[in-house]
Amino acid sequence: MNAAATARAHTNIALIKYWGKADTKLMLPQTSSLSLTLDQFYTDTSVAFDASLTQDEITLNGQRLTAQAGHKVHNFLDLVRQRSGQTAFARVDSTNHVPTAAGLASSASAFAALAGAASQAAGLNLSRTDLSRLARRGSGSATRSIFGGFAEWHAGTDDHSSYAEPFEETVDWPIAVVALVLDARQKKVSSTQGMQSSVMTSPYYPAWKNVVNQDLAAIKPAIQARDFTTMGEILEANAMRMHALTLSANPPYSYFNGETLAAMATVQTLREQGVACYYTLDAGPNVKVFCQTPDLPVITERFKAQFGADSVVVAHPGPGINLQSTL
Ligand code: ADP
Ligand code: DP6
Ligand code: CO
Repeated sequence: MNAAATARAHTNIALIKYWGKADTKLMLPQTSSLSLTLDQFYTDTSVAFDASLTQDEITLNGQRLTAQAGHKVHNFLDLVRQRSGQTAFARVDSTNHVPTAAGLASSASAFAALAGAASQAAGLNLSRTDLSRLARRGSGSATRSIFGGFAEWHAGTDDHSSYAEPFEETVDWPIAVVALVLDARQKKVSSTQGMQSSVMTSPYYPAWKNVVNQDLAAIKPAIQARDFTTMGEILEANAMRMHALTLSANPPYSYFNGETLAAMATVQTLREQGVACYYTLDAGPNVKVFCQTPDLPVITERFKAQFGADSVVVAHPGPGINLQSTL
């Protein structure tokens, strides 16, 4: 049995968003969702179970986490221990190659990588579907980060039926996502808190559930047909419909800042000038712009002039989880 393992998983950007849980313990979502895994943002995590430890020791980006900051990881390790029979505490060492808690989906890459490394280190040899189910228990969006390319998370109704699968894992379509890192600081309202508030208090939540099903049904054939315009129109509308659930919550809140709105306006101007590009954003102010690779020079030049070169990261479709045993 391997007592230690390491894994790399990439973040994903949702085209059709997950925003609300039906079951907070099992992490079952209210709706299905669909994402694209990104090559530029990822997490590396190693896990070693060690019988000499008296507690889990969790290090993120070289800093030891307090019990409070590490409680999600600790709970997740408990789940892995329960399933595997492993009884030792673990040393977890994780590095985010993505800003943490800024709306760039660090929880997706983090819990996908942790699911891979912890399950492998505990001697569970899980299929990718089982890894997807396990990653879900750490963070909903992690369910999809087990896979590369476009992935769909089937909402399901119980632990077994809620998992992601590839919709198109190898994306032979010259598309890119320009990520605008406008504010890399930790957000004030976590995704978990934000979506819970939307479910409980937004009067528009029932409409959201219907609209997601329609958007999901419409975007899949657009992706398959390589219809970039239709895909873009749907993903942009779906993102704004999600953010309407924050503005309509009680108390209301928003993940946008002034630069978020300025970036959206630039995307609209680019479109008026004939450049096909569409924006989306997760729970944070940082905008992601879907485009086709021939348009990358004009788009990146425009945003570098607006926000500075350091704020502009060009990502492409990324790979699924990579697992390695280290002992
Ligand atoms: P994001 O937009 O980055 O996904 P979330 O609010 O969804 O933001 O999740 C952020 C939380 O995920 C962090 O506060 C932390 O609890 C957890 N997290 C992020 N990266 C890691 C990591 N590498 N290892 C363990 N937990 C992590
Ligand atoms: C806006 O997966 O971060 O990025 O399940 O509570 O950990 P928890 O939330 P998380 O929420 C992601 C929300 C989103 C949309 C998406 O990725 O589908
Ligand atoms: Co997250």
